Amino acid sequence: MEKKVASNFLWGGAVSNVQAEGSTEVYGKGHNVYDDLVVIPEKGQISQGSTNIASNHYRQYKEDLQLFKELGFSAYRIAIVWSRIHPTGEEETPNEAGLAFYDDMINDLLSKGIEPIVSLVHFDMPTHLAEKYNGFLSTEVIDLYSRHVEQVVEHFKDRVKYWITYNEINTAPFDAHSYLVAGAQRPIDMSEVEFFHEITYNTNLASARAINFITDTVEDAKVSGMITVNYAKAKDGDPKNHLAATMYNEFNFYLFADLICKGEYTSFYQNFLSLNGINYLNDDLSEFKSAAKKVTYLPISGYQTRVIEAKTKLDSIEEINELLFHTVTEASEELAANHWGWTIDPIGFRQELDDLYSRYQLPLFIVENGIGLQEGATLEETLNDLDRIDYHKQYIKAMIDAMNVDGVVIMGYLLWSPIDILSSHKEMEKRYGLVYIDEMKNGTMKRIPKKSFYWYKKVIETQGGVVYD
Ligand code: BG6
Repeated sequence: MEKKVASNFLWGGAVSNVQAEGSTEVYGKGHNVYDDLVVIPEKGQISQGSTNIASNHYRQYKEDLQLFKELGFSAYRIAIVWSRIHPTGEEETPNEAGLAFYDDMINDLLSKGIEPIVSLVHFDMPTHLAEKYNGFLSTEVIDLYSRHVEQVVEHFKDRVKYWITYNEINTAPFDAHSYLVAGAQRPIDMSEVEFFHEITYNTNLASARAINFITDTVEDAKVSGMITVNYAKAKDGDPKNHLAATMYNEFNFYLFADLICKGEYTSFYQNFLSLNGINYLNDDLSEFKSAAKKVTYLPISGYQTRVIEAKTKLDSIEEINELLFHTVTEASEELAANHWGWTIDPIGFRQELDDLYSRYQLPLFIVENGIGLQEGATLEETLNDLDRIDYHKQYIKAMIDAMNVDGVVIMGYLLWSPIDILSSHKEMEKRYGLVYIDEMKNGTMKRIPKKSFYWYKKVIETQGGVVYD
């Protein structure tokens, strides 16, 4: 068995620019939902960093890209921040200064031989759209997003081939994430199911429209929507819990992967809507269907797996709603986890890859995978990040085994994240980077490669072979 990947495999890293750039007030940029997010701290949260500072990537990106070249990256995933291009979301023309910034970044990437992978919405909807329209709960925002996408794509179409229309679209309709991911908050007179369905339809329509536009506009475009995949497993192997896990995975993952890859609602979802009294038969899925035909790969993020326990018999829609909306999945007691309770489960990751490929038969693209670790008591300890190396070693091996043993086609692996950046809860102490950024301690913004930096460089040099050592 081959113990490495092919030479055209895309190795690299990924960030969300709102979590890395800082400089929230410059050159006409508007505030976005991440800047204005009132954080409900994640369990285990230690600190809260400033989005205006973040990793100062806005001002130091050239230095960062130079480090990525040194790593041997062939791809780097960024998000063009919506509110830098359309500060309120309602401007008819783009903010030239915003375009100029990404022009420089993309040109610099290309000059270094690094393929830009561009996300079109990643926690960066202009706050104005969230406040005026309640984000993607309103169809007007679909139109405004479409205009934004068209202008961005027209501008970069000669240089960018890889587009991701919507980051982790499958988290958008849940109350806990809807503001950050879709700029929307559930009105008090709207049920969870109604809200879920409206947001699911609107965000996926926006994404499908973007896919259709991009494939019509960009020569040799490689475009898709994107989901996060963190499967639930049955607690204690109990059959009732297996059923709960199947339903949970249907609702959280397959529903969205089917929308992207097939342009259809799953039968589970159709039945769920009917039982909840929601008429979906008139939903126009024609744009979803045409987009699905053009999708050539499925990009995913994957970090951990969870276990789920059924508290009821699951034989009525009320019980199923309760499971789908209110069950808190737990970290498996058998698995190691980081400080925030995110489990380390490379075998679960391989199983997810096998399962998704067998269902959709589309190449997968891992566009996020990583581990958040606290920095050490001393700089020396922080830089000696053996736990990060161990995590990536296990996950990359699982990925290569999925490819070479199980027959899964995977086109690339983008590590989250090559530099320390703020977490989605604005925490700086949850560090993912291969490169340490001295922000929390002394504010010098100095970039210092950690041990994992040199290890990942070797991964790329050996096409993954080093993970078998
Ligand atoms: C993904 C997001 O959910 O996971 C990222 O696309 C996020 O933006 C990453 O940062 C890790 O999650 P967290 O909450 O630890 O930052």
